[in-house]
Amino acid sequence: MFVCDEDSLIILSRSSREQDKTMWVRKKIEIAPNEIAWAMARCPLPGDEDRLAERIENLWAPGQTLVCLSIRSGFDLLLSTVDWPADSEIIMSGLTIRDMPRIIRQHGFIPVGVDIDPLSLAPSVEQIENSITPQTKAIVIAHLFGGLVDMDPIIDVARRHKLLVIEDCAQAYIGNHFQGHPAADVSMFSFGPIKTNTALAGGIFKVRRPELLRRMKENHRKLPLQTPFAFGARLCKYSAIKLISTSFVSGCIVRCMRLIGKNHDDLASGMARGFAGAGFFKRIRQKPSVPLLRLLYRKLYEFDETTIHARASCGRFISEQIGSRVYVVGQQAIDPTNWVFAILVENRDELVQAMWRKGFDATTHSSLRIVSRSEDEPNADLVGAQYLLDHIVFLPIDLAMPLKSLQKMVNVIAETETTAPEQAIPRVTGNTTTRSIRHRF
Ligand SMILES: Cc1ncc(COP(=O)(O)O)c(C=O)c1O
Repeated sequence: MFVCDEDSLIILSRSSREQDKTMWVRKKIEIAPNEIAWAMARCPLPGDEDRLAERIENLWAPGQTLVCLSIRSGFDLLLSTVDWPADSEIIMSGLTIRDMPRIIRQHGFIPVGVDIDPLSLAPSVEQIENSITPQTKAIVIAHLFGGLVDMDPIIDVARRHKLLVIEDCAQAYIGNHFQGHPAADVSMFSFGPIKTNTALAGGIFKVRRPELLRRMKENHRKLPLQTPFAFGARLCKYSAIKLISTSFVSGCIVRCMRLIGKNHDDLASGMARGFAGAGFFKRIRQKPSVPLLRLLYRKLYEFDETTIHARASCGRFISEQIGSRVYVVGQQAIDPTNWVFAILVENRDELVQAMWRKGFDATTHSSLRIVSRSEDEPNADLVGAQYLLDHIVFLPIDLAMPLKSLQKMVNVIAETETTAPEQAIPRVTGNTTTRSIRHRF
């Protein structure tokens, strides 16, 4: 059933002329202006960061939680805490953000990417097992696009080979009740700018190995504290981005850029990037500031899980309407909740242009990259991941979108004579379950 909230009904009542002027943006920043103002007002106030972090730990999982500045910060901390020899190998989902393998390399370890299936986004269990060598120490699995990978067979493999299992749930937050697979050693959640229920930064780690957690906390204590000023500047930056990304303002910007012969796509893709620019490692190696911890607690405490149901319903609606015309990425993941919604098509540039003309900010830009052992040696073996990057189009899904706009977006796909890619989709064997983990909802 499609869920239509009050706001959607309000937008439905707009005149069609007014609607044509708007642009449905690709990823709204999920923080309200009053939450930003609340956090700004608290920037000058003193506070005890240990006590505030403890409050979050008690809300999340007492005795098993570490609150960091971001997933990248906590992952970096984890790798500086483990006692592995240089050239240890870390097997990981072959598609993830560029910084995750970069952090692994920085510690003298080797990231080993395994292919993922374009429809379930799950790595091949068979390939994981075949990639294990005497140097392998851990497996990092990313749950992409808001769906889940079946962890049971991967955990089985890891236990047999005595490997650490790390779950990257950056794109899979659906409420505080879902804290990762109970048998994973570490589950990481992100509250960065474009994440569900964002606090504009923040990472929560559930660490189920007490000794590892104790040592991570010991090392975390030694990091410098992010200043309230730095977090205040971040609040200002994202207030401006939020303003720009309202449908009307972004519609005007897109039209102005078109008039001067430019397109907005690169600008929009770069804007919401977390730790962009120089000094990456210096910037991730900090503890979260007092106002960030206050905001993160508030966001976790007040999160409304019904928004996840609504988002998943929008995704289901579009999938059903598209039918078998095109492939939906992550369609066969477990419990897809559509953190982003993407399809695989042949004529993707043509489709994106048509979407823009109709007021939908679709894009082919992805922040995901194929994992390779070294930065300057691309990995050509991951055919499923490469196929996904070559055919993907992200469609904007917004909970404020009325049914009429969702239908219009589907019509653009039909009118553009969009078809599934001609080349057969490379299915990655071994892990294409459609089983549901009901406890997530
Ligand atoms: C799959 C994945 N892993 C890790 C991260 C990093 O999260 P953070 O911004 O909290 O460092 C992201 C952020 O986009 C992500 O998408």
